[in-house]
Amino acid sequence: MSGTFISFEGIDGSGKSTQARLLSEWLIGAGRQVVLTREPGGSPGAEQIRQMVLEGEADRWSAETELLLFTAARRDHLERTIRPALARGEVVISDRFADSSRIYQGLGRAALGNMVDDLHALVIGQEPDLTVLVDMDPDVGLGRALGRQGGEERFEGFGVDMQRRMRQGFLDLAAQNPDRIVVIDGNRAIDEVQTSIQAIVQDRLR
Ligand code: ADP
Ligand code: TYD
Repeated sequence: MSGTFISFEGIDGSGKSTQARLLSEWLIGAGRQVVLTREPGGSPGAEQIRQMVLEGEADRWSAETELLLFTAARRDHLERTIRPALARGEVVISDRFADSSRIYQGLGRAALGNMVDDLHALVIGQEPDLTVLVDMDPDVGLGRALGRQGGEERFEGFGVDMQRRMRQGFLDLAAQNPDRIVVIDGNRAIDEVQTSIQAIVQDRLR
């Protein structure tokens, strides 16, 4: 038996976490077994790595070390949470997965695209069955993200220009992977966005 692996991607504040949670509640209501998880994190070890990578000074790690930490967290998440749930035939919904490394580390401060791809091939080697890209205007997304409290603001201090490049990067990735990545317009009310997502997921799960 093998389950279904769904990831949510998009810039900070696009509404991924909100939509992932609502989708999970909807699927559970329909009688599915669901594991709702997130990256970086999603397993005890990966949550520890999350703290190391998201908190503290911006220059705490080099871009390369940071990529290794994100990748190590992903490997642990896969081993301990994602693959066991898929083997049980469950639906795994992950708030971010490898596309986030392709965009944030691939287009970020050191443009590590080749290293991202090589590491992925070497130690991850798995893609979601479906990726929901919640696309939205970075000005709106940044306002939402900065409105939240918490110690993880390091990554949200990027500024609107960087978020625009990230948004375009995600859209390019979607164009390159049309069978896997579905682009959803996130500039709408929460329930309207969710209705679009449910229609796509229902179609895929059938
Ligand atoms: P992400 O996980 O992509 O960073 P969140 O789901 O945490 O985004 O949403 C960021 C903030 O914006 C939250 O306060 C959330 O309640 C709010 N939000 C999410 N989706 C919408 C929407 N469609 N319209 C208005 N506000 C939203
Ligand atoms: P997240 O908690 O999803 O932030 P948000 O809810 O604001 O979208 O992710 C934390 C940050 O980690 C986010 O800015 C993106 C970044 N990140 C990477 O840079 N590389 C990665 O591989 C992942 C999974 C996340």
